[in-house]
Amino acid sequence: MNNTFTKLPDTVMLDEAAPALVIIDQTLLPTELRLISLYSLSEIWDAIKKLKVRGAPAIGVAAGIALYLASHAILQKGVTDTTQFLDMLRADKDYLASSRPTAVNLFWALERMYKTALSFIENGGTVTACVDRLLAECKAIRDEDIASSKAIGENGLSLLTDGCGILTHCNAGQLATVRYGTALAPIHVGREKGMSFKVYCDETRPLLQGARLSAYELVCDGVDTTVICDNMASQVMKDGRIQAVIVGADRIAANGDAANKIGTSGVAILAKYYGIPFYVAAPTSTIDVTLKSGELIPIEQRKADEVTEMWYETRMAPEGANVFNPAFDVTPNELITAIITERGIIKPNYTENIAKIMEK
Ligand code: MRU
Repeated sequence: MNNTFTKLPDTVMLDEAAPALVIIDQTLLPTELRLISLYSLSEIWDAIKKLKVRGAPAIGVAAGIALYLASHAILQKGVTDTTQFLDMLRADKDYLASSRPTAVNLFWALERMYKTALSFIENGGTVTACVDRLLAECKAIRDEDIASSKAIGENGLSLLTDGCGILTHCNAGQLATVRYGTALAPIHVGREKGMSFKVYCDETRPLLQGARLSAYELVCDGVDTTVICDNMASQVMKDGRIQAVIVGADRIAANGDAANKIGTSGVAILAKYYGIPFYVAAPTSTIDVTLKSGELIPIEQRKADEVTEMWYETRMAPEGANVFNPAFDVTPNELITAIITERGIIKPNYTENIAKIMEK
């Protein structure tokens, strides 16, 4: 096994001089590792929609930087009236919020930025000073994401043993955050401590985040990585190759129900059947206490051609066949062994214990 660590650049960055949002264009991976600079809100909206930047925490950090860029652009237009500034900023926030519906980190970061601007202006701040304040806030969101991903890695590592087999679904790794990831953070942190793991990546139809992205970043980190088709998970579990399943989340309801990439709930059912612990790893910014249960989480429906055409030289399903393409499903809390956050590991009863950890 090639153990050479190929350090990836941060997934989401701010170019302060431009200013611009800089991201790894994840639609090009694993063929090409390319950083792209995005200057306008329409470019950023499009990048989120098309999954050039994706994964709940990474979308949140990108949205925070995007709202700072929006404030900077408003100032550049000569707007100094604070009411007009806030009206324009709110319109930009609402526009960015329309890019994708499920990952709560998008709305969390946009609201945090807007509320920062609102309270700054209400306390007598000028537009120019407010733009500086928003620069500091988007950097804080980025830095907190790095710190919480590392802490999730440390907390999650306590549940793993050296050499164990892990199954993951989709990509909840560095490419879904700024660094380290959530579900893959314990693996990256373990690697830093000289540990090794055997990781099985569900390819994750239809957009192949497991095969293209998780496998890519794990191989870059020198991890023993095996890609399997989604319908092989049962067999690798039955064979005794998997000691833990770890996945990420796009939104966790107050009762612990967790929305994640389509197919996750099926993996959870298999894990229960085979008696394998099923862990969800996510920062507390992914927990939406305003939703009582997972039934209330909005699920994104995506275009049919992602299923029928995108990965094939010629269309592989007949014209006229309907396509159902939900991007996420919800794993019920009773299938989740524990939720790994930066503040600690949450175990059932989730309604009580989520409330406690969110108060911290
Ligand atoms: O559609 P995507 O690629 O944005 O979906 C991503 C996932 O489902 C991830 O597992 C989730 O966002 C957690 S990322 C740490």
